[in-house]
Amino acid sequence: MKHPNQVIIDLASLRHNFRQARAAFGDRPLLAVVKADAYGHGAVEVARALTDEEADMFGVAHPTEGARLRAAGIDRPILLFCGAHPDDAGELADQELTPMLFDLELARALDAAGRARGRVLPVHLKIDTGMGRAGFRPEQLDEVLATLAGLDHVRIDGVVSHLALADDVANPFTARQYETFAACVERVRAAGFNPRWLHLSNSPGLFGQTFPLCNLARPGISLYGGLPGESFRHLDLKPVMRFVSRIAQVNRLPAGSGISYGHRFVTERDSLVAAVPVGYSDGYPRLVTNRAEVLVRGRRIRQVGTVCMNWILLDVTDHPDVRVGDLVTLLGRDGDGLISGDELAGWAQTIDYEVFCSIGSRNPRQYLRA
Ligand SMILES: Cc1ncc(COP(=O)(O)O)c(C=O)c1O
Repeated sequence: MKHPNQVIIDLASLRHNFRQARAAFGDRPLLAVVKADAYGHGAVEVARALTDEEADMFGVAHPTEGARLRAAGIDRPILLFCGAHPDDAGELADQELTPMLFDLELARALDAAGRARGRVLPVHLKIDTGMGRAGFRPEQLDEVLATLAGLDHVRIDGVVSHLALADDVANPFTARQYETFAACVERVRAAGFNPRWLHLSNSPGLFGQTFPLCNLARPGISLYGGLPGESFRHLDLKPVMRFVSRIAQVNRLPAGSGISYGHRFVTERDSLVAAVPVGYSDGYPRLVTNRAEVLVRGRRIRQVGTVCMNWILLDVTDHPDVRVGDLVTLLGRDGDGLISGDELAGWAQTIDYEVFCSIGSRNPRQYLRA
């Protein structure tokens, strides 16, 4: 059976982007962020391709995502960004999944699991230096370190924090976060720990700043050819995701015809309107209504009328050669044309991260290999 809509993932472009990130980080180790099914690109396929590129670690949100990578044979270290429930400590040990640690209950559970297995389990200590999200606050650090010093089967293998404003490269807050991070690392060392990995950078941090203390970076969006922020348009990153559908019908409508729910578009002339069986249930955002463009035969064509659950409509009046069955590119490249994640996100008042996650997770994926 044929599904009309497809996500096409270009693994050669992914690998190109990874090399750009590697070069920007001075050929030092990289943790490739493959959480949320690799931002909709497919975590297993992405992790396999980036294992070939010798990515040093992978980052996922949850233990279930890590277990999926292990089941697929990914053997590199895997870091869990959102920690884990203490009940899962034994499984983390067995599957060699390393949590970012911001919860002492989990530390105690890991200690017990490590003791039962005769192993010392690694964690990356997560410090909130200004993201205001997950992490131990610097003022909690003494108590945290004292607790961890008493847990023989847990080892601080890394110290990590996350940048809140790195996409705004001139913002001095990032330097403040780094200073706080460096001071915390010093306290960790003074307490007798010797963390191997120190890391702070997401994509904008990696491409826009240098943090001398850090020996690992965690790029995500840049690997997928997304835009890490306005200052990064010059980067040589290639789009990885393409989203296509096909024209199902072309209708001739007289001037004054209302189109789609609410008649939010009314034809001003005798028009040709193409119906394409893709909509918000496929992750194509409803908010792009009357704003988006798509590519057909390499040409930009206007989307008109409300985006439906399973349909969008295109004004093809000026393109009478368009036929039923023609490929419609909603995201990505068609010939010389490109609808970037950033452009589609702009029409939808969101960010390319969300566009990739929504579209990538809802449609059959096909992989183009290098
Ligand atoms: C803790 C952490 N590190 C790194 C990243 C990767 O960020 P980016 O996709 O901006 O490169 C994320 C993404 O949200 C994250 O949550």
